[in-house]
Amino acid sequence: MLNRPSHMTAHAQVRRRLLAAGSLVPAAPMLLALLAPSRVAAREDMVELDVPFVPTPMSVVDAMLDMAKVTSNDLVYDLGCGDGRIVIRAAERFGARGVGVDLNPVRVKEAQAAAKRAGRAIDSKVRFEVGDVFKFDFSPATVVTMYLLPSVNLKLRPRIFKELKPGTRIVSHDFDMGDWEPQAKRDLDSSTVYFWTVPAKAPANLKS
Ligand SMILES: C[S@@+](CC[C@H](N)C(=O)[O-])C[C@H]1O[C@@H](n2cnc3c(N)ncnc32)[C@H](O)[C@@H]1O
Repeated sequence: MLNRPSHMTAHAQVRRRLLAAGSLVPAAPMLLALLAPSRVAAREDMVELDVPFVPTPMSVVDAMLDMAKVTSNDLVYDLGCGDGRIVIRAAERFGARGVGVDLNPVRVKEAQAAAKRAGRAIDSKVRFEVGDVFKFDFSPATVVTMYLLPSVNLKLRPRIFKELKPGTRIVSHDFDMGDWEPQAKRDLDSSTVYFWTVPAKAPANLKS
């Protein structure tokens, strides 16, 4: 009999691969081909990415949005939005507006198609753009969501302090922000979600 891995085990394996892939980013096309959801997409995936596409399980998406206490007044930015699931879910569950940015145009097309499928009410609240998280302006956000890599989170941290409004909530799937202590942390379904609020002033030890 086949010994099928449980969903939890499978996700943990993917997470390990995500970490491993992050340390091998220059060789990304090969790894992306392994991780991409379809062969057609994989063929178009010849973009050098900082993080491969691994979607957040929906149970974890919901936990992220709950931890950030998203409401209809929020503007949610997902940095590296993949298939758009976090932004679309925020619009569906809470009526929030959202923006997703991804370096991979294939992902952006998928996200735009998913928003259309979700109906006009949702599609009118969300926007997906091709862009690089290191250059993209995410300062209008009231909530930022991320499923990137530890090194990418750390590289974004100075911009988070400098460019985001005090009080902006941030949630990250699986990866923390080094010595910036999270205000809350939740483990579920083999994942961890970290939560922070942008302070009025960056702590002196975290300015860079
Ligand atoms: C682990 S996936 C997360 C997808 C989605 N946020 C989720 O949680 O389901 C990371 C995403 O980041 C994108 N990405 C990688 N490097 C990027 C960069 N420099 N700028 C924007 N997006 C990037 C990838 O294409 C991929 O879709």
